[in-house]
Amino acid sequence: MTEKKIILIFGKRGSGKSYLAQKLVEREERLVIFDTLSEYQNGVVFESYEGFTEFWRKIYQHPYRLIYRPLNPDQEIDLIADLVYTLGNCCFLVEEIDCYCTAYQISESFAHVVQRGRHQNISLIGITQRPYGIHRLLTSQAKEIYVFNTNEPRDREYLRTLLGQEIEEKLNQLKQYEYIKWTDGKEGLEIGKA
Ligand SMILES: Nc1ncnc2c1ncn2[C@@H]1O[C@H](COP(=O)(O)OP(=O)(O)OP(=O)(O)O)[C@@H](O)[C@H]1O
Ligand SMILES: [Mg+2]
Repeated sequence: MTEKKIILIFGKRGSGKSYLAQKLVEREERLVIFDTLSEYQNGVVFESYEGFTEFWRKIYQHPYRLIYRPLNPDQEIDLIADLVYTLGNCCFLVEEIDCYCTAYQISESFAHVVQRGRHQNISLIGITQRPYGIHRLLTSQAKEIYVFNTNEPRDREYLRTLLGQEIEEKLNQLKQYEYIKWTDGKEGLEIGKA
């Protein structure tokens, strides 16, 4: 991604979200993955906060692919988001974003990355199984939204409100691993596959 943007990926378990995310970040020069479900392997994996941040601070001016598997995601997201913001120039991939930003509450440092990350040359990819109730800050700043298969009535209702009635008919057409892509400023929704 040369343009620094926010991308969201929604869909139920096993629908292909993380698979797509890996494709999207294939060519990122500097990448940090907040890998709460231990789904990513292509990079240097850290499980201790100290080891991770020490390493990152040393090499942040060089290309890197870092995978962080937090023990306490809700507590550590702010620490990592602060560092992402401070060091800048990277792509930040976050799994299970619904844990850090509900409709009523968004972690402060995470919000900072969302609102001002572009100036620090940061792109953000946020992934969740449950789009319903995600903070408006995220959806309003998103440039691209990928929607995989989703059955939950609440989620589908939410997607209709967010992306329009057309999403309903498109969701019914989706085959395995296919997604519906919404792009900011572009007419219509496209179906695709990673
Ligand atoms: N486009 C694709 N082509 C081939 N295999 C795929 C594709 N997308 C996903 N898969 C495979 O399907 C499985 C589930 O995909 P993935 O792990 O991306 O799901 P997910 O949406 O991230 O699920 P979860 O919410 O549980 O993390 C994986 O084994 C993955 O390799
Ligand atoms: Mg996944």
